[in-house]
This record gives sequence, structure tokens and C-alpha cells, in this order.
Amino acid sequence: MTDWTRQELDLYDHAEELLHRMRHGGVLCTVVDAAGATNVLTLGWGLVGPSYHGHPVLAIAITPRRYSWRFIEEVPEFVIGVLDDALRPAADYCGQASGRDGDKFAACGLTPVESVHVRAPSIAECPVNIECRAYTRVAPPHTLLTPEHRKAPLELQHTIYFGEVLGTYRITPAPGA
Ligand SMILES: Cc1cc2nc3c(=O)[nH]c(=O)nc-3n(C[C@H](O)[C@H](O)[C@H](O)COP(=O)(O)O)c2cc1C
Repeated sequence: MTDWTRQELDLYDHAEELLHRMRHGGVLCTVVDAAGATNVLTLGWGLVGPSYHGHPVLAIAITPRRYSWRFIEEVPEFVIGVLDDALRPAADYCGQASGRDGDKFAACGLTPVESVHVRAPSIAECPVNIECRAYTRVAPPHTLLTPEHRKAPLELQHTIYFGEVLGTYRITPAPGA
């Protein structure tokens, strides 16, 4: 079993890259359910910024149609894996295939690594892993959305999770591993 070392990063040094990747092909997001099963999907919907509670906030949105939705509802934690160009095929795959049909980590050669603060795994191949604990959620029907948005069928509307960023890391194999 590989041992891993972690370098702690400042989220704000990587926020621009995070938003860029979200807008262009998406980022990876891992989730875990109450039984400990894990899954990974691609996300393009997101917000990041400072918060009064001291940790940065990273908000994501997942529709109840996704296999991952039950996971994050059961364990309100997630890890965002920021990609590099080499991981674009993995983001494409995880944004189309469903964890219902098989293990997407294995299919993409992604290595799940135990996270520091949350039960959802980090991904060794991602240059930046952002560990988040959802502290609140906004679920459909969203009373705050405009009438146009509310016209979308309920099952297509996203549940929005506001995550407290508990740690941002670069993961590398430990020397000699
Ligand atoms: C670039 C891109 C961005 C995406 N963004 C989101 C998103 O923000 N929220 C969401 O629910 N699905 C999003 N998806 C779709 C899911 O990643 C996709 O449906 C995935 O297969 C769900 O996996 P699951 O069924 O294993 O949960 C996106 C897909 C792509 C390709």
C-alpha cells in the first residue's frame, strides 16, 4: 500500500484555477455514503469565496438524478479535485458514466486516498484536493430562484451544498513509497 504525503495549500492561491477548470470541462468531486461506498462525478456548477466562519466557502450543486446525490445527502461531505490537462479524459468520463454502472475510480485509473478532515476520498492524481464539509444546503423547490428557474421540472433542479473548506492539499507518494 502506498504511503502519501500532503502539502497544505492556500485555497485562494488555487481559486482561479478551480474556477477556470469548472468552466472548462469541470472538476472532479468525490462523495461517500453512510456505508462507506465512494463515487466520483464531474461538476461545473460552483462558487468559492470567504466566509464569516473563518474557512472559505465552496458551493456545489448536484441534481437528485445523480447517483452521487444520495451519497452527499447521507454524508454531507465532499472533496473537489482540481484537474490538470492530463485528467481531462477522466473528467469527461466521470461526467457521463454513472457510478450505478461501475467503479469510475478504477475505470479512469484514479487513486482514492484517505482525506484528512472528511470521509470522502481525495484523488492522488489531482494536483489540488479541496476537502469540504457541507454546512447548509438549499434544496428544490428553491424559493429564492426566479420564476423562470422555478419552471424547470423539480427533478432537474439542483440541490446546492455550501461547503466549509477544511483543508486544501497536494498529495504525493511518500519518499521511498
Ligand atoms: C463538464 C461537466 C460539468 C457537470 N456539472 C455538473 C454539476 O455541476 N452538477 C451535476 O449534478 N452534474 C453535473 N454534471 C453531470 C454529472 O457529472 C454526470 O451526470 C455524472 O455521470 C453523474 O455521475 P453519478 O451518476 O455517478 O453521480 C456535469 C458533467 C460535465 C461533463
